[in-house]
This record gives sequence, structure tokens and C-alpha cells, in this order.
Amino acid sequence: MKPTRSFASDNKAGIHPKILEAIAAANQGHVVGYGDDPYTESAVEKFKRHFGADIEVFIAFNGTAANCLGLKALTETYHAVICAEAAHVYTDECGAPEKFTGCKLIPIPTPDGKLTVESVRHVYHGIGDQHHVQPRVVSITQSTEMGTVYKPKEIRDLARFAHERSMFLHMDGARIANAAVSLGLTLREATRDLGVDVLSFGGTKNGAMGAEAVIFFDRRFSRDFLYVRKQGMQLASKMRFISAQFEALFADDLWRKNAEHSNQMAALLEKEIRKIPDVKIVYPVEANGVFAQIPRQAIAKLQKRYFFYVWNEEQSVVRWMCSFDTTAEDVKEFARFVAETVRE
Ligand SMILES: Cc1ncc(COP(=O)(O)O)c(C=O)c1O
Repeated sequence: MKPTRSFASDNKAGIHPKILEAIAAANQGHVVGYGDDPYTESAVEKFKRHFGADIEVFIAFNGTAANCLGLKALTETYHAVICAEAAHVYTDECGAPEKFTGCKLIPIPTPDGKLTVESVRHVYHGIGDQHHVQPRVVSITQSTEMGTVYKPKEIRDLARFAHERSMFLHMDGARIANAAVSLGLTLREATRDLGVDVLSFGGTKNGAMGAEAVIFFDRRFSRDFLYVRKQGMQLASKMRFISAQFEALFADDLWRKNAEHSNQMAALLEKEIRKIPDVKIVYPVEANGVFAQIPRQAIAKLQKRYFFYVWNEEQSVVRWMCSFDTTAEDVKEFARFVAETVRE
């Protein structure tokens, strides 16, 4: 029998039982739709407790939309968004950011998924030239698509660079919980306090069923966002069921516990995988993902039992993600299977 849990993605996992309970508990009677309900009021209140009373928060269904609409709020069609080449907005959103913002995305190759001030400076040109798109947003992913985590200073420096040039810092925080825990920071310290202007806050990869939010730390940009969200088809009529998930994530710091656990499982997986000759960990394991270079012929054999994605076919690099429900036994069994398969 195949194992019931894989290492393919943190969104292959199910819903955390406490979140499922919260959805069921919200399933009582009728409430007003479209966000004018007590569950949403209470979830927004919790967001404000974490990020500050003066934020604006808008709930959305998925991370692609949170990114696209957050970027749209910051841009005109003649602007450009600078991002890492590996960024989800660039590689995994089917051109939706370009479609919704009308902006050009300027991708920067990186060895570890992280932009640096130097790399951004390199593409910052054409300012004031009517023939060029005008760079307006630096978009970073935290934790990154390569399982690495920006250090606070790296984000502060990017924010300073952007703000000194009338640009803004957007953060794709699909895994912001994993990053905050990895850095030992609160959610606010890991985002707003470092100069992030707009945050896509991810709940789905941290145990929710489908709960994301766009958070504005500067209300100038959220003024028309109610309309942007509706036009972007992200206004949930039965919003209470998404809001209830955020309430559960924030109650008893479940967000933190889930992220801590998945990060710990990735650290354990790294430790076990490092024991295997012929398998090489290729990026620092700083959140809940492990990237490994493995002998090419082992990939298909491994995938027959445990489905996962190949990150870089040419280099034979694969991606293994841990989730809130990954167990130490899952990790050890998987590592044993990798060792065995690689040896064959
Ligand atoms: C870095 C990153 N950003 C955003 C998303 C959001 O994606 P979705 O639209 O599937 O919720 C994902 C999901 O894979 C992701 O990995």
C-alpha cells in the first residue's frame, strides 16, 4: 500500500482538524454574506492584533489572486514588477499577474530564490524614459520558492531601496508563517516592521482549506480595493467560512505551531537525507522545503511510491515539502526508501 501522506507539496495536505471544526462551528444559522458577518469581523480584529490596528485586510480564496490583486493595487499598466525568476508570480501563475495588472514582470535569476539590492539595481533603469516600463514594485516571496528565508536585513535593505525610488515592496507570504517561525519573529516583525507595503498572507499551506488575505500596511493603496477584489472575482459570498479558518489559525497560535512543526520535519528530513551517499541537498533548508539532487534514474522509481515534483530536470533536482501533518515516522520511512532506491 502507498503511504497516505507524500512530500509533494504543503497543499497536498488536508485541513487541520481545528480548522475543520471552526468551519463546522460557523455553520450555524444564517449570517449576512460578502464579509458583513461576525466571523469576518472577528478575523479582521485578529489580523489587526497581529499587524496593527491601522491595517486594511481583504480575504481572498487563493494565493495567486492575493498576489495579482495586491500588485494591481500598487500599479498602473505602464509599471513593472521586479521579482525573482523562480517567483510564483513569474513561473506559476499562468501570466495572471501580467493579465490583471497589465504590467511587465522583470525576472531576476538568483542562486537561492532571493533578490538582493544589487540584483534589483541591475534592472532598475529607464526611469522617466517614455519608451520604458517604469519599475514600481519589488516583489519577494517569504519563505522563498527554494525553501530559503530572507534575513530581516535583506528585506529592510530591499524596502529602503524601493522606497527611496518611490517604489513599493510586495511580499508573497504564501509561507510567511514558516518564515516568521524560522526567523523567531512575530508576523508583524517579519513583514510590516521590515518595510513591506502589501502582503499576501497565506493560510492554505499552513493547514487551512483555502484561506488567503491581502494586507495593506499603507491605506493609500487599499482605497479602491473593495472594487478591485470584486472585479477580480475574489469576493466570497459565504465569507464566514474563510474567516472562521483565520480565526482558528490565530487561536492558540495554531499558525505558529503548524509552521514550527512543518519546519522541524523539513530539518529532520534534511538530516536523514544527508546520510545518503549520492544525494545532495542543494539549497539551505530554512523553512519547510528540502531540495535535493538525486541520481536521475531514481526519480521515477521514487515517484511511483511517493509522488513529488521535479524542480530542475536538467540538474536532477527534486523538491520535497513538509506539512503540518507530516510525522517523524513519515520522514524516516521516506528517507529509508530514498536510500534504498538510490542504492539499487
Ligand atoms: C510561493 C507561492 N505563492 C503563492 C502560491 C499560491 O497559489 P494558489 O493560487 O494555488 O493558492 C503558492 C502555491 O503554490 C506558492 O507556492
